[in-house]
Amino acid sequence: MSQQPITTATAATQAIPSNYKLTSENSAQILVPITEQSDNKAFINPIQEFNRDLSVASISVWSEMVREEKMAKFAARRSKGKGKRMAEENPDWQFKFSILDALSATGLRAIRYAKEIPNADRIYANDFLPDAVEAIRRNVEYNGVSDKVSATEGDASALMYQHRSKAQFDVIDLDPYGTAAPFVDAAVQSLSNGGLLCITCTDTAVMAGSNYPEKCYSNYGGTPVKAEYSHEAALRLILNSVSQSAARYGRYIEPLMSLSIDFYVRMWIRVHDGLSGTKKAFSKAGLVHVCSFCRSHKIQAFGRVVTKTSDKGAESTKFQAPQTAHVGENGRCDECSAVMHANGPMWIDTLHNKTFTKRLLEHVENNASKYGTAHRMKGMVSTANEELDAPFYFTTDTIASAMKLAAPSMLTVASGLVNAGYHVSRSHALAGSIKTDAPASAIHDMFRKWMKTRPIKLDNVKEGSPTRVLVTKEAVIDADLTHNQTVIDMLNNKERMTRYQANPANWGPLAKPAGGPPRKKGTEEGVEKVAKEDNGTSVEASKATTKDDKLDNHGKADSSGDSVDKNVGEKRTVDGANDAHDNKKAKLDV
Ligand SMILES: C[S@@+](CC[C@H](N)C(=O)[O-])C[C@H]1O[C@@H](n2cnc3c(N)ncnc32)[C@H](O)[C@@H]1O
Ligand SMILES: [Zn+2]
Repeated sequence: MSQQPITTATAATQAIPSNYKLTSENSAQILVPITEQSDNKAFINPIQEFNRDLSVASISVWSEMVREEKMAKFAARRSKGKGKRMAEENPDWQFKFSILDALSATGLRAIRYAKEIPNADRIYANDFLPDAVEAIRRNVEYNGVSDKVSATEGDASALMYQHRSKAQFDVIDLDPYGTAAPFVDAAVQSLSNGGLLCITCTDTAVMAGSNYPEKCYSNYGGTPVKAEYSHEAALRLILNSVSQSAARYGRYIEPLMSLSIDFYVRMWIRVHDGLSGTKKAFSKAGLVHVCSFCRSHKIQAFGRVVTKTSDKGAESTKFQAPQTAHVGENGRCDECSAVMHANGPMWIDTLHNKTFTKRLLEHVENNASKYGTAHRMKGMVSTANEELDAPFYFTTDTIASAMKLAAPSMLTVASGLVNAGYHVSRSHALAGSIKTDAPASAIHDMFRKWMKTRPIKLDNVKEGSPTRVLVTKEAVIDADLTHNQTVIDMLNNKERMTRYQANPANWGPLAKPAGGPPRKKGTEEGVEKVAKEDNGTSVEASKATTKDDKLDNHGKADSSGDSVDKNVGEKRTVDGANDAHDNKKAKLDV
């Protein structure tokens, strides 16, 4: 793999103008007016350094992949004797590309992109606030990147629509307050073929909470799930809304990496031209039926792609409506007989491209000294890279609580599943979570076996209640809960990675700065009815009054016995604290 070094910026040598203070992040120095410092704080959220670091790295790796694709394409054409010799055939050819930082605030992101991403040579930093654009100009000049970065003032969507036909952008970064939904239609049209869309959404209470399903539908065309995997569902809701927008214009999406981070989600998505990919989009979307009690789920895809090969070897593809999936007898859960809820539609295909996440991991390892948050980047990208492609996850705490049991450890349950022939991994989205390709019935069988040595008193469990149905069902699998070496290796944190990080004190999105044009319907501001909704998880937490809602709380301060790292590099010794009977407590990172 060609690895290009990041150019670490030298500190700006210019004098700091009077009335300004300097704040820096990696290669960029941002001038903050002293008199207005409290207001200007709103423009830079230091917590988002991780988002910006990941974006510098992701755009760098994407550009290397595009360069290789283009070179391979031209080499293949030439090998067939087609066309005249192109620059792309030269091994030293570099892929130069443009980036639009559509919602730029101080220009911090655009400046970092200009200084840290090789070959990003045309960068546009846009904002609709005159003060922000003034700040962008000041900072661009101070950082000495005026040759690469141009400041533009105006509505981000209007700017993108102007560029939808010819002069498209290779990368578009949407980093709004709240939802990015109002900008998606313009963005999918104004990206070049195979271009990269980087999206942040911070309206976590809407997309991953249970109090605003109607709002989630207006933003993302689907409703959120009420389960501990609601944060993965949020990623899937947004991906499906981008996929649908793209499909309208004969384009389709390829998620490179989709992450639920702190109080927000961030996705890096390629947008390609192509009828065949567009036609397949309906098979990558579906409804998710979720049990209101045990949270087991059933997925109903919207479409089926059937490819046949004739006797003569000709391939034909048909696009068909699928049969209705079995959801459960009379709309009730097969496992516990509680009511099922229909959620979505959402993306049911892969969240990450593993070729990309593997290369990104290598990039971070090779450039660790260049990123302020390298340790955390490595932990989260590794976890994403190792994730099973199966949708969603569970925690031992939730299922044990539904069955009124003391929770077994992750190691015990995951070992049982692997011993039964299934696959397991962690999810990056929740500490203590297990992803698996096993059906809910098999997962519950692990707990039924566990229960045999720790019987519960059924006298206190109401006849016909979901708990009673769950615990009295005969197990189909005679689970072997012996600790499995593969799972021990998976959970072992030999490299002391920060896979999950506790929330810092100043955690959360910042308030919008005062001023600016009046709020309009359909703009980023207009769709945010309640300003506090932006503050995703804190609102979510404050609304988390029921047991179920508490389960929705992302497990960032989780009680599963699966501790989160409070400090980068902190020693972690965890394996299901509740598993009192597991004497051989491995020191595991879960
Ligand atoms: C969260 S801040 C961006 C932070 C920045 N990306 C960073 O990493 O430091 C969102 C910015 O989007 C701007 N904005 C909101 N709606 C906009 C629109 N419709 N067009 C252009 N800019 C907009 C706001 O003025 C604000 O400066
Ligand atoms: Zn159920």
